[in-house]
Amino acid sequence: MSDTPELNEESVRAAADAALAAIAAADDSAALKAVRAEHLGEHSLLARLNAQLRNVPSDQKAVYGKLVGGARGRVNQAFAAKEQEISEAEAAAQLRAETLDVTAIPVPGRVGARHPLTLIQERVADVFVGMGWEVAEGPELESEWFNFDALNFDEDHPARAMQDTFFVDPVGSHLVLRTHTSPVQVRSLLERELPVYVVAPGRVYRTDELDATHLPVFSQIEGLAVDKGLTMAHLRGTLEHFARVMFGSEAKIRLRPNYFPFTEPSAELDIWHPAAKGGPRWIEWGGCGMVNANVLRATGVDPEVYSGFAFGMGLERTLQFRNDLSDMRDFLEGDIRFSQAFGMVV
Ligand code: DAH
Repeated sequence: MSDTPELNEESVRAAADAALAAIAAADDSAALKAVRAEHLGEHSLLARLNAQLRNVPSDQKAVYGKLVGGARGRVNQAFAAKEQEISEAEAAAQLRAETLDVTAIPVPGRVGARHPLTLIQERVADVFVGMGWEVAEGPELESEWFNFDALNFDEDHPARAMQDTFFVDPVGSHLVLRTHTSPVQVRSLLERELPVYVVAPGRVYRTDELDATHLPVFSQIEGLAVDKGLTMAHLRGTLEHFARVMFGSEAKIRLRPNYFPFTEPSAELDIWHPAAKGGPRWIEWGGCGMVNANVLRATGVDPEVYSGFAFGMGLERTLQFRNDLSDMRDFLEGDIRFSQAFGMVV
């Protein structure tokens, strides 16, 4: 090759020195790879000088052969030593980088928690679905007719004032934020085929001040069964089963006469809470009764053929005395520690 210097002691030493200097300067495996290509490969200067051996007169071949061979040997040796050194250093660096401190205190991943209201709604739904009931829904922005009229609240009946209502502008829209889940009774009877067995959990609104025992937004669960031949005995049996699933096999219920426009007769539902804080006792839980014939008529159901029962209770309140909570406002705060305290089981 034209740019290959003449083969002699000096050119071989220069080529070997250049190769050794490059090897010494390489400080990682990538650099070393480049050195190999340039100084040890078949196109390297030393390889090209070696190739010139064939032009050397035979009586000098041994001398020159030794010269080039010795130079290549030194370069190869230096390369191998450097290669070993770099691979050890790189392995050590990798081990250092991947070191795990097995004594470190783990930082637990922050997992969210489901809200206790969601959990209790699902629990209640499960209990009733287990008895063959269905889950029904209705809008929170409800028409006055569903919230009151169809439920047999007379236009000037004082019962309308029983529930402090958020009316929605304009008044002529006749829309309210539903004050209870009972309008879902009406919707279910209008939308579904008889017989109807539904539970409807959901949010309701009243113009209450927010304090430890009142929320302007809270949740209820509504139950409605309309079928042929339903009596108060069915209502009692259903609620007793519900009470036992929620409060343990010792739980029982008591019905006290009361008034609701949409039921006749109507009753206040008390529960005997066996694990109540401070000892077992009766606690007011919700309302119930036999569906008023006017409600059946308003939804096109013949009260001569069908009868029904209904019940409704507040879910925050249920959780409050079931899980011994002191402040209702905790339901609204969104503090994950509150939800986490319930775990996955409510
Ligand atoms: N809607 C009633 C309320 O919010 C609760 C209630 C009472 C629901 C009696 C019912 C019932 O289904 O039969 O105060």
